[in-house]
Amino acid sequence: MKLKHAALAVCASLTLSGFAQAAGEIVIKFSHVVAPETPKGKAAEYFKKLAEQRTHGKVKVQVYPNSQLYKDKEELEALQLGAVQMLAPSLAKFGPLGVKEFEVFDLPYVFDNYDEVNKVMHGPLGKQLLGKLETKGIKGLAYWDNGFKNFSANKPIKSPTDLKGMKIRIQSSKVLEEEMRTLGALPQVMAFSEVYQALQTGVVDGTELEASNLYTSKAYEVQKNLTLTQHGFLGYALIVNKKFWDGLPADVRAQLDSAVQDASVYANKIAKEENDKAVAAIKASGKTKVYVPTPQEREAFKKALLPVHQKMASRIGPDLLKQIYKETGFNPGK
Ligand code: LMR
Repeated sequence: MKLKHAALAVCASLTLSGFAQAAGEIVIKFSHVVAPETPKGKAAEYFKKLAEQRTHGKVKVQVYPNSQLYKDKEELEALQLGAVQMLAPSLAKFGPLGVKEFEVFDLPYVFDNYDEVNKVMHGPLGKQLLGKLETKGIKGLAYWDNGFKNFSANKPIKSPTDLKGMKIRIQSSKVLEEEMRTLGALPQVMAFSEVYQALQTGVVDGTELEASNLYTSKAYEVQKNLTLTQHGFLGYALIVNKKFWDGLPADVRAQLDSAVQDASVYANKIAKEENDKAVAAIKASGKTKVYVPTPQEREAFKKALLPVHQKMASRIGPDLLKQIYKETGFNPGK
């Protein structure tokens, strides 16, 4: 691990000095952990195209998908050190960095649809949350959608009690950890790149992933059952190394800002379509049985999981929770 840090530090200094000296060319390394065919992967490529066009080639964007460079936790360290300049981690991954407020997005059933998510992300609350990253040397540029998560396992999951005793892979969020404990499941924090093998070898029994990641990572091939519980949201923050971004020439930064804006519109436009397509593709594969819970079954999941909100209120901040309820019209007593 020490070696890794040393390597990152060397890389960081090379990158920063390289950036300053390389005859007018600015390189943005954009690292991420999912496949190029995911909403995030496609939006990263679209950003690359726009950024290179609009800066007339002054900026080169190198996109590294599938954890080619770094896994979940390492990529945030690499960004802070300047070894990469841009990432789009899931909002569930900022807790270990000390910005736990983003875990409000992990609360089960707090959002019913994309409109509710977008009201929060693209409103003042979303902006305020991105601002919290600045003390960590990170600038938050935008939010990108992915989709709603579903439980998968080899055994069918139709009620919350079916998850009792099962080892379920989660992202590094305390809210997700509590979600699993509330169901009597055993949460296993694991990097995304390790999920397929962990499912295949039985290190974990199941996951909560949205369809596009389940499909493109091929994890569905090692899960016989998928239940469309849609119990939580997975979205991203598009972030950059603040020192790098603030140090860019003003005209280049403005061109990149406009590329960010348009790539974000694109990301948020394709997210639902891509997830719907992934559900259809999983169904068509015949490898995984896709189950849609009845309204009663959905209610049972909701009832079982809503206590997570109150259990985690002190971690994410009771005021923030109230603000989110207000934005989305969520009524905790209902
Ligand atoms: C996960 O770890 O399940 C996701 O956050 C991966 C991603 O970046 O979509």
